[in-house]
Amino acid sequence: MAELVRNFIGGEWVEARSGQTFDSINPATEELIAPAARSGPEDIDAAVQAAKAAYKNWRLTPAPRRGEILYRVAQLLQQRKEELARIMTQEMGKVLSEARGDVQEAIDMAYFMAGEGRRMLGYVAPVEMPNKFGMAMRDSVGVVGLITPWNFPIAVPSWKMLPALIAGNVVVWKPGEDTPKTAIEFARVFQEAGLPDGVLNVVLGAGDAGEALVDHRDVRIISFTGSTETGLKVYTRAAALGKKVTLEMGGKNAIIVLDDANLDLAVQAITWSAFGTTGQRCTAASRLIVQKGILPRLTEALIEQTKTLRIGYGLDESVQVGPLVNRKALDKVEYYVGVARDEGAQVLVGGARPPMERGFFYQPTLLGGVNPNMRVANEEIFGPVLSIIEVASLEEAIEVNNGVNYGLSSSIFTENVNAAFRAMRDLTTGIVYINHGTTGAEIQFPFGGTRGTGNGMREAGQTALDTFTEWKSVYVDYSGRLQRAQIDTDAILGEL
Ligand code: UN1
Repeated sequence: MAELVRNFIGGEWVEARSGQTFDSINPATEELIAPAARSGPEDIDAAVQAAKAAYKNWRLTPAPRRGEILYRVAQLLQQRKEELARIMTQEMGKVLSEARGDVQEAIDMAYFMAGEGRRMLGYVAPVEMPNKFGMAMRDSVGVVGLITPWNFPIAVPSWKMLPALIAGNVVVWKPGEDTPKTAIEFARVFQEAGLPDGVLNVVLGAGDAGEALVDHRDVRIISFTGSTETGLKVYTRAAALGKKVTLEMGGKNAIIVLDDANLDLAVQAITWSAFGTTGQRCTAASRLIVQKGILPRLTEALIEQTKTLRIGYGLDESVQVGPLVNRKALDKVEYYVGVARDEGAQVLVGGARPPMERGFFYQPTLLGGVNPNMRVANEEIFGPVLSIIEVASLEEAIEVNNGVNYGLSSSIFTENVNAAFRAMRDLTTGIVYINHGTTGAEIQFPFGGTRGTGNGMREAGQTALDTFTEWKSVYVDYSGRLQRAQIDTDAILGEL
């Protein structure tokens, strides 16, 4: 029996207080990877108490020193990249090259935030009285709660954890249920890098552990990535307690292809954005909006390209598409392909499970004849299913793109610079790509979406610091007398 994956609380590796466990399963083989601690509110509370104790010193540790620890995190992640990637592939199914990319994203973020340890700029502004000084500085907040999904089990937590830590906060992290081992191995890197005990705590478990984290009165910020359904519940609960919340939720991202597009490039990019990570990226393309002149050629080329994709166990380097993460995810994909058929769409390729004995596999699937009102053109499927929608013009394409309840990423393929700039201006998603698919955001830019995808916050980039800091405005009056702002100004200035 594989060793229990334990919680990481106050620098100790501990079981859930209740002794309960859940199983981490390999989605390609359906074999048990390991049992993991199934935590409850009492474990969350222990982690929050450990974090609070660690906050006393961590907030006073100079940010450049905090940055040095994050540099070591980056270096250790580089050394461990292969090992972590293999664990990730086994636990959630994405192919090895993509799992390496997931770790790389955390390496990039660690270097970026380590650098913030010597920047984290505030500002000094003029003040209205003589002999007085004013400045604004970023301040840490305290205990922050992170709830993250399984699909980017290292990259997404890194967008939250690293800015939280560099700013002087302490963290309680509840990772996705499908990836406990990956999460714990990631946390181990922080311990080895010299992060003091209690600054980062990991509590494994299901939704009830997440709820306890959201509800805990000593947790001031909740940063959540996951489904819209859960995210809105988190938002409501946290709002009732006056907490700051960042939400990164569903998507229904589209690629637009205009008649003048570079066809070969578009085919490569569409295939990658739609079927890479088995369609299980927040940024994955699930709609293809095509101008009618290029539709027949593009459809034909896409069908051919999709047929060549190799499905299988992601540890095999020649495999391009791994399994869905679990049976529930597979059932959801099957359900939506059924809905598409009922709605009158045509399955052009795929539309079934491949003939494999084990594993939660589904064939990359192209749906033709989809119109913007169908459910498959509006609801998030989170699997390898791409709906093709025909349009007459750029204007119609933009309208269709913007017409859904989500707004994370969009993309356009065109060789016309005017059309590209119009699209940049008019596509109302948080991320826009020109001549590139909808996936592949880099960590130095804000990441997040409009409408039902988020709540106006952004992750990664320097903007991440806005989530995990409070502004503190400091006034120093060195006049030695009472100088009332807005009231004594004229009198005091008259004396000059
Ligand atoms: C996600 O799916 O939640 O932009 C993150 C991308 C990756 C991150 C995806 N860098 O596709």
